[in-house]
Amino acid sequence: MSSRSSKRSAGTRTLQATACALLLTALLAQRGEAAGAPPALYTPAQAQQGHAVFERHCAVCHGRHLEGGVGPALTGGKFASVKAGFTVQQIFEFLSVDMPADAPGSLTARQYLELMAFLLQQNGYPAGKTTLTARIASGSTVALVYR
Ligand code: HEC
Repeated sequence: MSSRSSKRSAGTRTLQATACALLLTALLAQRGEAAGAPPALYTPAQAQQGHAVFERHCAVCHGRHLEGGVGPALTGGKFASVKAGFTVQQIFEFLSVDMPADAPGSLTARQYLELMAFLLQQNGYPAGKTTLTARIASGSTVALVYR
């Protein structure tokens, strides 16, 4: 009897240890995200297309290297600072409604998404397997902070 119950409690301990390890792993993963591992919101192809669209429609005012000109810089700590507090949603909506400044809203929905992908890339956000869609971009509260 006593040997049986000690066996059972050893089993319980193993289970508890496993649960603990799982919880710890989950917590660490969450911390990694919060600590700034940026999410992958777009595909490499979108950023590449966005680069071409940018050169054609935006570089004249924002500079070929996004360094700024008539319009402000679109990369770096002066643009996407913690203080500016931009979210992906805000920048996406601003650029798709107000840009290019000389012909607001004149590009296609697809081109605006590609531009958003390019801006994310140029501010240090990684590409991934998920295509950036209008639904994701216009609902994204992910902070756009240069890294
Ligand atoms: C004719 C010049 C011009 C063109 C072309 C232009 N922009 Fe702009 N852009 C501006 C000016 C000027 C501002 C700043 C004024 C403002 O915020 O309304 C600005 C602001 C912005 C901002 C906000 C920056 C910030 O710090 O708030 C973004 C993002 C942006 N432009 C993206 C684009 C993209 C993407 C394109 C290409 C589709 C583009 N712009 C084309 C002149 C231009």
